[in-house]
Amino acid sequence: MPVKPVVVVTRKLPDPIETRMMELFDVRLNLADSPMSQAQLIASVKTCDVLVPTVTDRIDAAVLSQAGERLRLIASFGTGVDHIDLKTARQRNITVTNTPGVLTEDTADMTMALILAVPRRLTEGERLMRSATRTGWSPTSMLGKRIWGKRLGIIGMGRIGSAVARRARGFGLAIHYHNRRRVHQSLEAELEATYWESLDQMLARMDIISVNCPHTPATYHLLSARRLKLLPRHAYIVNTSRGEVVDENALTRMLEKHEIAGAGLDVFEHEPAVNPKLLKLDNVVLLPHMGSATMEGRLDMGEKVIINIKTFTDGHKPPDRVLETMF
Ligand code: 8YV
Repeated sequence: MPVKPVVVVTRKLPDPIETRMMELFDVRLNLADSPMSQAQLIASVKTCDVLVPTVTDRIDAAVLSQAGERLRLIASFGTGVDHIDLKTARQRNITVTNTPGVLTEDTADMTMALILAVPRRLTEGERLMRSATRTGWSPTSMLGKRIWGKRLGIIGMGRIGSAVARRARGFGLAIHYHNRRRVHQSLEAELEATYWESLDQMLARMDIISVNCPHTPATYHLLSARRLKLLPRHAYIVNTSRGEVVDENALTRMLEKHEIAGAGLDVFEHEPAVNPKLLKLDNVVLLPHMGSATMEGRLDMGEKVIINIKTFTDGHKPPDRVLETMF
């Protein structure tokens, strides 16, 4: 019988995924689900053939430089790969895979939920219902801003950005976007989307901004303090991508001073930490990085991880290889 590869999984995964992994691999699970320290990660990469990390693990040069000869694959659970040092992985001949595609629709749903929730003051209303100060309906209470007819500026028109655009059109939003490259004409036509080569120019003209690009060295603080100031005072920002794309301190200051109308944030610059000042604001909706958190999504992601490992350890190219040049 061939020897099963040693697979270390850094966090608890859904039961059916762990069961299947136990059948296929010599798997070391993290049933307690406590995030691994750097020392634990280093101990793991010294002895395993395959590492299955996720967004809460920092697989940096310090960890990878300690990897044993047998570590050949990092099969990440998630689409974003900004927690993995791809360059060092390549230099050490370690293949990296992710789980794209299967969380597109769930993340787009959550983005749309935030696009609706912030201008319509959904969570504020919910808090009011549970508070002792609830007074009932009045013509001027809980007034928000209309969604229909407004301009949505999507930063990053990839899979998730396009899925957000499709939903947003149903709510009467006009679609604008900024992307490294202009998307195919047929997609632009389908979405009736307007391309802005200049992010600065787009920001100055939008009512709602949705951040849907990956976090890379090129997109770190793409929404810098300077760029955030270009937004009209009535604008809202929604971020379901990565906190690092937005200068969180600058955004918080602007929200405090009402220099921007509101924000819906599912991701934060220093997760799991959140700028404590954000927690005090009424014009923000805050979520604990749950954009793709559906049972179906997590199962699909787990299946993708298994396929990537199995294909690789059977001697073939895994379907979801990540190359540095993709970013
Ligand atoms: C995942 C995400 O849940 O896949 C991603 O990039 O941001 C999340 O939706 C998480 O990263 C799991 O690793």
